[in-house]
This record gives sequence, structure tokens and C-alpha cells, in this order.
Amino acid sequence: MPRERTFVLLKPDAVHRGLVGTIVHRFERRGLKLVGMKAMRVSKGLAETYYAEHKGKPFFEGLVKYVTSSPVVAIVLEGDGAVAVVRRMMGKTNSAEAEPGTIRGDFGLQIGRNLIHGSDSTTSARREIDLFFKPEELLEYTRIDEAWLYE
Ligand code: RTP
Ligand code: MG
Repeated sequence: MPRERTFVLLKPDAVHRGLVGTIVHRFERRGLKLVGMKAMRVSKGLAETYYAEHKGKPFFEGLVKYVTSSPVVAIVLEGDGAVAVVRRMMGKTNSAEAEPGTIRGDFGLQIGRNLIHGSDSTTSARREIDLFFKPEELLEYTRIDEAWLYE
């Protein structure tokens, strides 16, 4: 699997429910490297650009309201196959159907309160990272355990 970067957004429910540390801990233990992380508010403009693919869908307005309602945590993670690994760790979009052991399956109950976003492809990842981070906010370093994470 190629080394990839992916974008993760911990949505307002994750922040309010005190799950930021728990979720970040899962990614760290998996071996994914933190290359960017910030607590922020998403403006209406940013939300509409970020969720442009859903414009016109019945849940779009509620989605924009949800993600702009309160602070979020934006994260960039790096590792082999990071895009797919993070999507599997998140579980199905609808928390009610997500498998136990996944983030949504362990902590959520509804589709509209599903705690986390993760890029669905390397193309989306690039777009989303560029939307949320300036190049100088992303870090280059080697994790001390990389020699044991990768053969
Ligand atoms: P995400 O983009 O947040 O990582 O989630 P996803 O790929 O699993 O799901 P996607 O189809 O891209 O939907 C984006 C977000 O919109 C909200 N949603 N609500 N009420 C509804 O029917 C509905 N459908 C989607 C969810 O917050 C979903 O994560
Ligand atoms: Mg999506």
C-alpha cells in the first residue's frame, strides 16, 4: 500500500461529547502519523465548499448547520493506505448500522450525528487538506516506531 495522507474532521458532536482524545488515540495506536491538527470553527462558506458534492440533497442544509454549529477538530493523518484504513476505522455512515469496534459503531446512534468525517479517496483527501490547512501547518517528521510499523 502506498504512503498516503488523509483528512479527518471530528465533528461538533465528537467535541461536545468529549471524544476527541479517544478518537485520536485510536488513530495513534493504529500507527497513523499526525501531520496536522487544529481546533477551529467551520464557516458557512467553508462548509458549503467542503460539502459541495451534497448540495441539493435533502440533508444538505442540516449538514451545514451541524458542522458550523460548534467547534470541530481538523486532522491530517499519514500512513500506508491511510485513506481506506481510516474509512474502515470510522465504520458505516449511519452510526446505527456501523459495526461495533468502529468509531461510529462504538459511539454513535444516528446518521446525522456520526462524529467523524474521513476522506473517501486520495483525490478528496488532497482537496480537503488544501481547504482546511495551509502548507506550513503540515509537519514532516519520522515517527520513532516507524521501523516497527513498516517492514
Ligand atoms: P463523511 O463524508 O462525513 O465522511 O461521511 P460519508 O462519506 O460516510 O457519508 P456521505 O455520504 O459523504 O455524507 C456526508 C455526511 O452527510 C451526513 N448525512 N446525513 N440525514 C441523512 O440522510 C444524511 N446522509 C448523509 C452525514 O453526516 C455524513 O457523514
Ligand atoms: Mg463523504
